[in-house]
Amino acid sequence: MKKLFFIITILMALPMAAQTKQSLTIRNGELWNDDSGQHINAHGGGIMKYGDTYYWFGEHKSEHTSDALVGVMCYASKDLVNWHNCGVALSVSDERGHDIERGCILERPKVIYNKVTKKFCMWFHLELKGRGYEAARYGVAVADRPEGPYKFLYSSRANAGTWPVEGAPMNFNEYLKRDFGMGQMSRDMTLYIDDDGKAYHIFSSEENYTLHIAELTADYLHHTGRYTRMAPGGQNEAPAIFKHEGTYWMITSGCTGWAPNEARMFSAPSIWGPWTQHPNPCRGPKSEITFGGQSTYILEVRGEGQEVRHIFMADIWRPNHPIDARYIWLPIDFENGKPVIRWREEWNINEE
Ligand code: GAL
Repeated sequence: MKKLFFIITILMALPMAAQTKQSLTIRNGELWNDDSGQHINAHGGGIMKYGDTYYWFGEHKSEHTSDALVGVMCYASKDLVNWHNCGVALSVSDERGHDIERGCILERPKVIYNKVTKKFCMWFHLELKGRGYEAARYGVAVADRPEGPYKFLYSSRANAGTWPVEGAPMNFNEYLKRDFGMGQMSRDMTLYIDDDGKAYHIFSSEENYTLHIAELTADYLHHTGRYTRMAPGGQNEAPAIFKHEGTYWMITSGCTGWAPNEARMFSAPSIWGPWTQHPNPCRGPKSEITFGGQSTYILEVRGEGQEVRHIFMADIWRPNHPIDARYIWLPIDFENGKPVIRWREEWNINEE
């Protein structure tokens, strides 16, 4: 009897095990359905882990426009493959003239948790409604719970009236000088929390010629005024950053709008630099155009034995059908001490 029970238990467990394994597969470029059967709508996104749950925040995109008609979406998952749609985390406003009025451009939202204030802090790239990409602002919103609702706080240009830590630069400084008074332009962006709890806002500035890395205040809601210029004149967008054994690695794209281009990679011994450029980390078909995608975030994942892995996240844009934009997630390996990203159509997120 005992034996029969054992056999039945094994037989019942087998298909479940097979199913679990299968459902943890990342299929790059395919439709990724959430728990309601809808393709995940969280583009230009980033992921924050809180407790044992991953929260994925990204731009909601519509059928015919990339303008923000809804706001920032949030999805939750414990395994990074099965996602629950938590709905709209930050909603656009119906008030005319509001900074995040419906129809504005609201891109690349990222959320970080502040352990001291216990608030969830969202930063994003904001363009005011009807003004194309000329406003070049960042926006900040805050929430008490990871999934929101997030309350919009303000939007602004960056670090008005302040020179970078290295002083007033000699080269490629025309835009920096032009915008000194009103604040520096702030477009494609990411956030990063360092091991000491200090957070940074990394964004394309100076007409997308130069990235700025700006320190945040202890509450993660403002700039402190300390910032550095990175790869001046290099025209980098879509910054994504991670740290590996004490070295900071940044992967970016060039500036070709929605069209994919070759990824760039940089490293530095400190977030303040000096930053050194390395060759394209991508390997395999279409590696010269980031596999058809554009970087958005690098997720740090800790295995059961606390071993750290990094996942490179990118967007395959569909400018003519924005809601149908797809995702690429690939593990970052190290080869001769440098990150490499190898193309895989599909892979199991739990693999070694
Ligand atoms: C890309 C940028 C996207 C979006 C797009 C608009 O270069 O990374 O976030 O702004 O341009 O053309």
